Amino acid sequence: MNLLVTGGAGFIGSNFILYWLKKYKEDGIINLDKLTYAGNPENLKSIENNPNYKFVKGDICDAELVNKLMNDEEIDTIVHFAAESHVDRSILDPSPFIKTNIIGTYTLLEGALKNKIKRFHHISTDEVFGSLSLDSKEKFNENTPYSPRSPYSASKASADHLVSAYYFTYNLPVTISNCSNNFGPFHFPEKLIPLAITNILEGKKVPVYGDGLYVRDWLFVEDHCTAIDAIINEGRIGETYLIGGMTEEISNMDVVLKILKIMGKDESWIEFVKDRPGHDRKYMIDWSKINNKLGWHPKHDFDEALKLTVEWYTKNQDWWKKIKTGEYLNYYKKQYGKI
Ligand code: NAD
Ligand code: TYD
Repeated sequence: MNLLVTGGAGFIGSNFILYWLKKYKEDGIINLDKLTYAGNPENLKSIENNPNYKFVKGDICDAELVNKLMNDEEIDTIVHFAAESHVDRSILDPSPFIKTNIIGTYTLLEGALKNKIKRFHHISTDEVFGSLSLDSKEKFNENTPYSPRSPYSASKASADHLVSAYYFTYNLPVTISNCSNNFGPFHFPEKLIPLAITNILEGKKVPVYGDGLYVRDWLFVEDHCTAIDAIINEGRIGETYLIGGMTEEISNMDVVLKILKIMGKDESWIEFVKDRPGHDRKYMIDWSKINNKLGWHPKHDFDEALKLTVEWYTKNQDWWKKIKTGEYLNYYKKQYGKI
């Protein structure tokens, strides 16, 4: 296979490229990434000399570049991760979310059509389904209606609809996956789990929004990669698959308390801060379709994977200390009111 991976210098994309090249040694990967604040070529240092891997710095909104790459590199499969991915940043400024997540996806779809791509796999999020109430036993499934509530989730929902439309209207061979909150190595320290771990390592408190009783379904990033693998190899064209983790309902407070316990700290390290506007109360995923149809299930228990993640951030302080400077500090100040 010749894959074009978009956003491969980000958190999930880089984990995916490392996973894929280790497993499929004959395949070629072109990684198209704009290297925004979230893109980090260091994530892929271990494969930079692999002849089957090539990095191209560029924007998925650049139609000429996208077309040229698909044509010159004889791409047959696209795995589309590139996105603006942080809800809080989308509240501060929705504009790059509209450009990259909507126009960028449209540009790739047009390129895929022109270049007769055999598979366009689109990575999306459970956030497109909106919010569940705390007392409901309901989980999101492939038939849950879309109800996005943040500029981020609205832009991802829009992209998902475009991908579907290209399947129904032009027979573009697409698949879509909507996954829950990933965590693991190379996760940018603006998201809850890496922010909590790195703040504690720096001797800073962990900001918890509102009452802290928000619930997310947590998916270890390696389990996400095996799910995408199953969909690319066995998934049915035109279908959507939901991907979730091995988590019971667990609040943000409980997640932070678990991290504090692993790191030998107490509750005094928690700081309750102003809530996120429009904060979705709960996400839960029913992943029985991908389990029944493709035999996939997550393999990592939340507590064990959380321990691995804390160990990774403890061992790789150079990686995140370089990130927590400059632009990051400006963002942190804007978001949390202090550094
Ligand atoms: P990330 O923010 O860590 O990485 C995004 C990458 O995309 C970066 O390398 C960035 O440089 C690149 N990028 C941004 N704009 C670009 C553009 N215009 N052209 C080319 N490259 C561009 O994101 P992530 O957490 O790895 O998420 C990857 C995908 O998974 C996204 O589509 C996101 O919506 C989806 N997703 C993420 C999560 C999660 O928990 N992280 C959960 C569900 C879905
Ligand atoms: P986040 O990691 O931003 O992912 P998402 O918004 O995509 O779910 O947030 C996960 C949960 O943690 C969410 O309910 C918001 C909350 N949160 C905090 O309480 N404090 C923080 O500093 C951050 C970044 C998130």
